[in-house]
Amino acid sequence: MTFKNPFQLGCFISFMFLNTMLMAQTTDTNTKIEDLLAQMTLEEKVGQMNQYNGFWDVTGPAPEGGNAAIKYEHLKKGWVGSMLNVTGTEEVRKLQKLVVEESRLGIPLIFGYDVIHGYKTLAPIPLAESASWDLEAIEESARVAAVEASAVGLNWTFAPMVDISRDPRWGRVMEGAGEDTYLGMQIAKARVNGFQGKDLSQPNTIAACAKHFAAYGFAEAGKEYNTTDIGTSTLYNTVLPPFKAAVDAGVKTVMNGFNLLNGVPVTGDAHLQRDILKGKWGFEGFVISDWASISEMVPHGIANDLKHSAELGAKAGSDMDMESYAYVRHLADLVKEGKVPEALVDDAVRRILKVKFELGLFDDPYRYCDAKQEEALLYHEDHKASVQNMALKSMVLLKNENTLLPLAKDQTKIAVIGELAAEKNSPLGSWRLGSDDGTAVSVLEGLKQFSDNVTYASGPKVFGENANFLNEVVVNTEDTSGMDEAVALAKNSEVVVMVLGEHGFQSGEARSRTELGLPGLQLDLLKAVQAVNPNIVLVLMNGRPLTITWEAEHIPTILEAWQLGTESGNAIAKVLFGAYNPSGKLPMTFPRSVGQIPIYYNHFNTGRPNPEPNVFWSHYSDEENTPLYPFGHGLSYTNFAYEDLKINVRDDGTVKVNAKVTNTGDVFGEEVVQLYIQDKKASIARPVQELKGFQKVGIPAGETKTLTFILTDKELGFFNHKHEFVVEPGKFGIMVGGSSADGLKGGFTKK
Ligand code: GLC
Repeated sequence: MTFKNPFQLGCFISFMFLNTMLMAQTTDTNTKIEDLLAQMTLEEKVGQMNQYNGFWDVTGPAPEGGNAAIKYEHLKKGWVGSMLNVTGTEEVRKLQKLVVEESRLGIPLIFGYDVIHGYKTLAPIPLAESASWDLEAIEESARVAAVEASAVGLNWTFAPMVDISRDPRWGRVMEGAGEDTYLGMQIAKARVNGFQGKDLSQPNTIAACAKHFAAYGFAEAGKEYNTTDIGTSTLYNTVLPPFKAAVDAGVKTVMNGFNLLNGVPVTGDAHLQRDILKGKWGFEGFVISDWASISEMVPHGIANDLKHSAELGAKAGSDMDMESYAYVRHLADLVKEGKVPEALVDDAVRRILKVKFELGLFDDPYRYCDAKQEEALLYHEDHKASVQNMALKSMVLLKNENTLLPLAKDQTKIAVIGELAAEKNSPLGSWRLGSDDGTAVSVLEGLKQFSDNVTYASGPKVFGENANFLNEVVVNTEDTSGMDEAVALAKNSEVVVMVLGEHGFQSGEARSRTELGLPGLQLDLLKAVQAVNPNIVLVLMNGRPLTITWEAEHIPTILEAWQLGTESGNAIAKVLFGAYNPSGKLPMTFPRSVGQIPIYYNHFNTGRPNPEPNVFWSHYSDEENTPLYPFGHGLSYTNFAYEDLKINVRDDGTVKVNAKVTNTGDVFGEEVVQLYIQDKKASIARPVQELKGFQKVGIPAGETKTLTFILTDKELGFFNHKHEFVVEPGKFGIMVGGSSADGLKGGFTKK
């Protein structure tokens, strides 16, 4: 090997040194793991595979009786590897001390929690973040979440949720990155990097968890916890790649799910967890079950009883049991009876211990228990700035057909109408376990920062008072009191800002809906207001795509504001008054009607795609085929013109694509330039278009930017039915634009 200059030689030497150091460290950890494993009894090994939910007052006296007492005893015996839902440095320290000092080997616990989009300072819900298409902002949002979570003693989050879904009836679409695999892959990577950082042993980084492995987002009829039954093409090309992206990004844990996948509970699916995840992909972390999913193999009709479910789960590669009590009660016996090889237990324990070593928990079990940090870091102003920045970028301007926006600061008589305009909880979404009630800035509070001419009327009640994490949300469909006052205010105002949408607990886990219109009397209110004042800015506050066809036809301006977290009202006000030019794009299709679902942009062509003079072609007799708003759609206060598409197939087989984008308006704006391909003919049908590249660029008014994309085999290939990645020659279509529905079109032939 020759070096051109001393600098190159120096780089090589330092690289080799670092590499050697890293290898030595890994060997050192592996040696420590083996030494520890050799000392462990079978019961202690099984204990590492057991995770309990903490629900008693840890700082109080030892619990007496019931599950809490059993858990307490097991903690002291070293029969617990992890706790979830225990937070606060005092509580965490107390439990860690109990295990480290009283159990025989003192193996530290790992503490997990659902830090889905923030802990105390909440970012927008993940679906909203995904609408930003801003990977740096998304990574920063996850980093802030990790800082706050680790400040309260946590070292593991059950996020990112990377389930692709095409069904907005399913409440958990709020938790993911929408319908597209390519966007989902990039966001999965950004979130894993944000949570885990560059050094997992740092006290402000936490282990991430890609979930739910796999296909939970394809629940039949969008009904929560329902069966998923999909073909290999969808599994391999749509569902699995975001998980693979998370694994390639170094995610330390993967969570499986509640669902059957093609007849097999994923929590008991050895092909998924052992052949694909741990075998083909080489995943070295560990798999945690979902809450009691191991025991749920009994009602699924796969396991005879809890003991049998423990056997199936362990054999399938579910390394840790969340709240089934299956492993802690039966796994040792199953090993002794020869039904589960101890080697499988050893493999699971190695994986779990490795993550604990990487977190630095063996060096210092109290590393995440710095009480001084705890208060200092929660709701930190820097965090508010980060989540506000994320919120600004997440909003999608769906329609802007007149000059209402941006609002003028000296605008007189702005009416703000709708219960959600004053809401300080719903903007936090449903996954806000760690945050405090009432900590979201409301839209009303935000608007009053900009104008003294804001008057509020709630209109009729929408939601009952008792909505919480456990209860169904009660929706008022009869009591119209408040309607007249709201209409009167609208009548005497210049412009009306209406904030309508869903309660924070109408999406999220166990929140499936069969109707996706505005809940309750909100549409009645909107129609009554529109009848007296057409100058309406509709701000939507929701956790999923809604069917807003009347609104889209009659309301001139519609801003999709999702549930934007702690800084919600400040961000929305900045957009409405033009302090920020909206730049979001839809990560999920908005249907015209529920009957169209699943409706998504990257569909197949079918054999009868084109209208015929008769009914014999692929269509509905009572609805259009097109969506209300397509994937990738989003407007700006300015406009962007696309021109000069150039496609160059290079000798190395890669394809260079250029396009020019001009800001033709008079304000600065950011555009998400999207690149789609279409593989015109292949050994299995390919979608009519597939997102394979995007760049979010800021362009000053009147200026032009040239964007360059490089397509490699990675983007042009697909998985066949044998899960082999193949790249086939033939004709490809290319489209570059600001939405999946429109752009510059071209093509090339792949040799
Ligand atoms: C829940 C969810 C899962 C979550 C876990 C712990 O039921 O399905 O996403 O991480 O249980 O709360």
